[in-house]
Amino acid sequence: MIKIFTNSLGDEELKAVEETFKSQWIGLGPKTKEFEEALKKRIGANNCLMVNCCSAANLIALKALGIGPGDEVIVSTINFVASASTVLEVGATPVFADVDSVYFNILPSEIKRLRNAKTKAVILLHYGGHPCDMDKLYEECNGLFIIEDSANSIVSKYKGKHCGTLGDAGFFSFDAMKILSTGDGGALVLKSEEAADRAFAFRYLGFDLKESTGVDRLKVKKNRWWEFELLTISNRYLMNDITASIGLVQLKKLDSFIQRRKEIWNIYQKELVGISSLILPPEPLDGSESSYYLYWLRITSGKRDELAMYLVDNGVYCTFRYYPLHLVKLYGSKNTLENAEDISETALNIPLTQNLTDTEIEKIIYHVKKFFS
Ligand SMILES: Cc1ncc(COP(=O)(O)O)c(C=O)c1O
Repeated sequence: MIKIFTNSLGDEELKAVEETFKSQWIGLGPKTKEFEEALKKRIGANNCLMVNCCSAANLIALKALGIGPGDEVIVSTINFVASASTVLEVGATPVFADVDSVYFNILPSEIKRLRNAKTKAVILLHYGGHPCDMDKLYEECNGLFIIEDSANSIVSKYKGKHCGTLGDAGFFSFDAMKILSTGDGGALVLKSEEAADRAFAFRYLGFDLKESTGVDRLKVKKNRWWEFELLTISNRYLMNDITASIGLVQLKKLDSFIQRRKEIWNIYQKELVGISSLILPPEPLDGSESSYYLYWLRITSGKRDELAMYLVDNGVYCTFRYYPLHLVKLYGSKNTLENAEDISETALNIPLTQNLTDTEIEKIIYHVKKFFS
């Protein structure tokens, strides 16, 4: 079966892990800080905090921005489950917004429709790596925090600025299915330094460790270096140096991954065009750059599920990201969001990874064409 999510971990990552083992420091330490600095520099962020996963970064972002009980957060419905669950976890209410039917990104007009005095923030996703129309969103979000889920958009840019740094908070995922993978891991970027300081404490059980640790205090012979105070109550969301050493190698390879993904995207766009009842995805908006994380088809003949089963039966895995959150029963939304529901019935992701061979690409194209012929 051709996989839809793969990673490119090899000897260089193994060597980096070996070096970390030899250093005898495997917890959060110099490698994690180096990874933070490297990503910060690469994306031009004010700050960057490495955590154990992107879902944790999402939770910490909400807490650091002071979102809590009584607040509402507008969440684009074609989105990862953490975007809604973290809002509920901090005691606020997610309000689901529809997306546009081409890019699957949040519709700016939804913010005007849904915002009220309780609305504090908007969580958006740059679907598949294609940046949202940020200028329209800036206009509509006036006075609201913009929180970017940048799990699909590790290298994406909007008008020269990196996704994840376009709003008040942004987060990235390095889990096993992402372009840059460390097995598990995530990064959080915050625009305000005060929010970043709060996030720092939330990352590690609320400890006040920004200035000094017990070891630092011992170095200056401070008495009772083990005593501590807490700034807040939180859980533990640390990255470690094993993960970070993998991330540092992956970061160097990232551009080559993206180049291959773009190449494959272009092949699909050229080879699959002109099939009736098949709509291909759009190119990124003018002035923006994509990470080409997902490739998405729309099947207008009502045969999406048939195509999915046909591809799987012929050794091509496919799926649909992301099932609309307003349809998840546990969230209790009663709303109808027409575009998202239509997308959820008609869209399909086919494999787009840097590891696809030319033969695999040909096989995928062959089977899609054969299904419609
Ligand atoms: C769009 C999106 N956001 C957030 C996440 C959460 O990432 P993590 O698995 O690192 O918690 C994922 C994971 O699949 C995702 O696809």
